[in-house]
Amino acid sequence: MTIEQRYSKDLMAGQVALVTGSGSGMGRITAIEMAASGARLALFARRAEPLEETAEMIRAAGGEAFVVTGDTRDEDTIEAAMVAIKDHYGQLDVLVNNAGGQYIAAARDITNKGFEAVIRNNLIGSWQMTRAVADHFMFENGGSIIFVTAITRTALTGFAHTVAARAGVTGLMKTLAAEWGEYGIRLNCVAPGTIKTEALGHYPIPPERWKELNRSVLNRMGTPQDVAGTIIFLASELGGFITGEDWYVDGGETLHMGHDARDMINPEMFDKRKRGDGSE
Ligand SMILES: NC(=O)c1ccc[n+]([C@@H]2O[C@H](COP(=O)([O-])OP(=O)(O)OC[C@H]3O[C@@H](n4cnc5c(N)ncnc54)[C@H](OP(=O)(O)O)[C@@H]3O)[C@@H](O)[C@H]2O)c1
Repeated sequence: MTIEQRYSKDLMAGQVALVTGSGSGMGRITAIEMAASGARLALFARRAEPLEETAEMIRAAGGEAFVVTGDTRDEDTIEAAMVAIKDHYGQLDVLVNNAGGQYIAAARDITNKGFEAVIRNNLIGSWQMTRAVADHFMFENGGSIIFVTAITRTALTGFAHTVAARAGVTGLMKTLAAEWGEYGIRLNCVAPGTIKTEALGHYPIPPERWKELNRSVLNRMGTPQDVAGTIIFLASELGGFITGEDWYVDGGETLHMGHDARDMINPEMFDKRKRGDGSE
């Protein structure tokens, strides 16, 4: 993978950043681009091998990365990660709560157990990680925390469990931002629209139909780089006076009303505006 140098090499110099779920997708690209911007990275997820691959990519480009495995649902592994990061780097300035996952299901088919599992992973996991990072590092030295969430200001059919979890994270973020500003801790959310990552391949949807999920007015799906750029802006001094914000990186997906009256008067325009999947 070629690593593009999109920001100044010292934008995040002197900072240590922990990115959860950094063995794939948006987490991996965010970690790689943060390292290229001068940050030293801690990489956290359940599986070591994908994290080691990300670490190798960072090191090959001259950056610094430290791998620590754990589960955001498990307080003991989080505690062990905090101790390991303290021993290794002695500081932590940025947390990106990116780890998460869900499955597609109609709300009427989601069991209580399934609902709880998604809440545990996407809401409670993010809270536990945030709390630990604040306790161990940020109440003393300040810092920046970014939550990667999902679209919650409109319906997200097929994802009732995750939309509940992500809306919970957004409310939590705003309240923590108000309470923790006095410690110099900034907290913000980045809500991705439809982003082309390996994770889409885990849904029972054939790739040729992904474009039907994408309603971006920009006629393409989002990329992990689109999301990483926004995270780095918020994490670094570029976003130094921004806290409590919920930024959508959705290519205008949530601007839609679900119909386009222009098609009524000029149906052939519909084809011209057909949605892109990023590869066309
Ligand atoms: N792609 C999209 O269009 C889209 C849209 C909206 C929101 N999102 C959300 O944005 C985030 C990143 O998305 P992505 O597409 O890059 O997904 P991804 O490739 O599946 O990355 C998520 C990572 O999180 C880790 N993870 C999951 N549960 C964990 C846990 N309990 N503890 C520690 N690590 C955990 C996984 O690694 P391990 O299995 O090794 O733990 C995985 O590598 C996810 O939260 C996703 O749900 C994605």
